[in-house]
Amino acid sequence: MGRLFDFMLPENKSPLTADSTDGLFNFINEASLVIFLGVVLAMIYFAIRYKRKSEDDKTPVITHNNTLEITWSVIPLLLTFIVFGWGYSGWLNLKTVPDDAYEIHVTGFKWNWSVSYDNGAQTINEIHVPKGQPIKLVMQSRDVLHSFFVPEYRVKHDVLPNRYTYVWFQAEETGESQVFCTEYCGTSHSNMLAKVIVHEPEEFQTWLDENGGGPSGSPVEQGEQLVSLQGCQTCHSVDGSELIGPSFKGIWGRDRNLADGSSVTVDENYIRESILYPGEKIAEGYQNVMTPYEGRISDEEITNIIEYLKTID
Ligand code: CUA
Repeated sequence: MGRLFDFMLPENKSPLTADSTDGLFNFINEASLVIFLGVVLAMIYFAIRYKRKSEDDKTPVITHNNTLEITWSVIPLLLTFIVFGWGYSGWLNLKTVPDDAYEIHVTGFKWNWSVSYDNGAQTINEIHVPKGQPIKLVMQSRDVLHSFFVPEYRVKHDVLPNRYTYVWFQAEETGESQVFCTEYCGTSHSNMLAKVIVHEPEEFQTWLDENGGGPSGSPVEQGEQLVSLQGCQTCHSVDGSELIGPSFKGIWGRDRNLADGSSVTVDENYIRESILYPGEKIAEGYQNVMTPYEGRISDEEITNIIEYLKTID
């Protein structure tokens, strides 16, 4: 496109997430430039035009001018509406992950980014992705607050302990993009760096196949094993049949009615909470009888169980 203030921005390597940010950034700066020039030029003109010419030059008394005052109030008001609407629609776009997004898990800890893929592959400080496909990063922290930021994709989100957050992007060209941690997290905060490495789709598949597997299997397999070892199926069926607790079948992404009359979408954070603190949100028609798993299960195990539950539909 080539807008006036593009020189202040890093390269745009994920147009689907970056375009609206860049457009708004340019609009705000262009509007500011126009207003700045208008004010400065008018000031210079008035200074010259109305300079006192002689000792008995009298200043006329002008109390106010309605037209002028309404104009300089309404125009900035409209500008703030435009900026709000534009910003809000851009934010919605960043929050709405395309359905066909490929999911990758990212865990931040002092001071590295650990990355795991659906087939059990793991990397550290390298996020391998295929180009031309939406990628959803599901993120959590093992210790303190971090923040995941890829300037070239214009995506940035806090990474928290005890909660999942996400970003999505779609890289359109192969190559590398820098990842920063942008929340001060201790001594080596500024070294908490990673790279997104974008491959051709076939090349990515090859990379994934070569690095996958591992001795303990994919996250889904490990999750399935855990669910069976922990005896979850005594109370939760995987085929939709009714037991003490709600079935695991077909719950992912759906809305669930709760005993208190409200409802919740079954997502990562809901499942996590229901494992650790089952009494927080009781499904409609069920009793609060499950033992909390707080302190008895690791974050990684919870993530694997979630991955498994996603597959039961
Ligand atoms: Cu992690 Cu700063």
